[in-house]
Amino acid sequence: MNKTYRISENTEYVVSEDLTKEYPEKKYRTYTATTATDPKPVIIKEMDEKRAGIYLALAGIKNRHIAKTQSVHKIDGSSQEPLYIAITECVGHSDENGVAPTLSHYVKKHGPLDTNTALRFALQICDALICVHKENIIHRDLKPDNIMVSEETDDRLACLKLIDFGVSDSAEDPYKNTFIKTSIEDVGTAGYTPHDRWITPRWDIYSLGCILNFMLTGHTPDMHIYSDSWEIRNIIEHCTDEYSARYADAKKLYKEVSHAARIGLWDRIPILRSIPGYRTHTFWKAAIATICYALLIYLGLDIIRHRGLDAQFFIFTLCWFFLPVMIAFDPFYLRYRIKPLRAIRHNTRLFIILQAIGLIFSLFILPNILLALLIN
Ligand SMILES: Nc1ncnc2c1ncn2[C@@H]1O[C@H](COP(=O)(O)OP(=O)(O)O)[C@@H](O)[C@H]1O
Ligand SMILES: [Mg+2]
Repeated sequence: MNKTYRISENTEYVVSEDLTKEYPEKKYRTYTATTATDPKPVIIKEMDEKRAGIYLALAGIKNRHIAKTQSVHKIDGSSQEPLYIAITECVGHSDENGVAPTLSHYVKKHGPLDTNTALRFALQICDALICVHKENIIHRDLKPDNIMVSEETDDRLACLKLIDFGVSDSAEDPYKNTFIKTSIEDVGTAGYTPHDRWITPRWDIYSLGCILNFMLTGHTPDMHIYSDSWEIRNIIEHCTDEYSARYADAKKLYKEVSHAARIGLWDRIPILRSIPGYRTHTFWKAAIATICYALLIYLGLDIIRHRGLDAQFFIFTLCWFFLPVMIAFDPFYLRYRIKPLRAIRHNTRLFIILQAIGLIFSLFILPNILLALLIN
């Protein structure tokens, strides 16, 4: 006889499939189930009291990229360890015998994804993370097996849905928490889990970096790191860096991924993607870059006109012209490309001091160059 869950006087769920059947050792099972009155399947996920609290919070969240939690119930009140179940939306797929494929299956079936799809998928998961982190929930087991590729579409792309908050926890503040949790359960999956001492949003950010790498290569970064685009590789490395060097929150990651995905005006003018100064999609930087390029062209023409092609002088002038710009704006992303320079990125004070030096330099040197050009 099929297993059943009676959750109220007139609602009884009949289990149709054990989705965890490949893992008989698992204490908490996940099933698909239906009621006599509704043939549409739901997912029944067993859990302990702590996760029941988390699923209760999830039931109040509405986000396209998180499988909807319908309700949470206590099943067995008699034993010492009561059992809870959450009833969640079953992410379906008409082609795949009812249940949607996981991202893991999807990549194995279709091969590594193109950068545009991978980045846009990463943005969808990032969106889900921003939402759960706001509720102080850290997923802690983010991996391609816990992401479903649904049939719904989002901007002409499949819509991903986050599932399995079975080892989630609430976030802790490492600054207030001077003692280190000794009871962090040994959870997560090799290749996707950081060795963090605190449970913070950075935990999930690490995993998302690994997922982005998996979508692009079919491997986790420890096996094979994606290297076709330095900009994307930098995002992956910044996600999977040690705790203190990682993106501090999912919003920052979202911003950088959307830059890399060229969403916005830059989408329509592809040539801008490769010109330093225009690559960050920031209007004021683009404006400064335009002025710099105009000056540079003027400078070059002037030198050729008045002095012939005196290469040494040209390079010298260029260096003086570029030094402040490089320090202040880093148009070639040197801070990202050269590993030791990354320390600057993580040290806000040093970063601000360097930018200030660069700006002061710009204010003094640029007018001097202009003046010299005018006098000549
Ligand atoms: N909401 C859902 N919709 C569709 N399939 C799901 C859903 N939740 C889980 N599954 C399927 O069941 C499998 C196991 O569920 P999961 O919640 O990840 O439990 P486990 O703790 O065993 O990893 C998933 O890999 C997925 O294939
Ligand atoms: Mg799972």
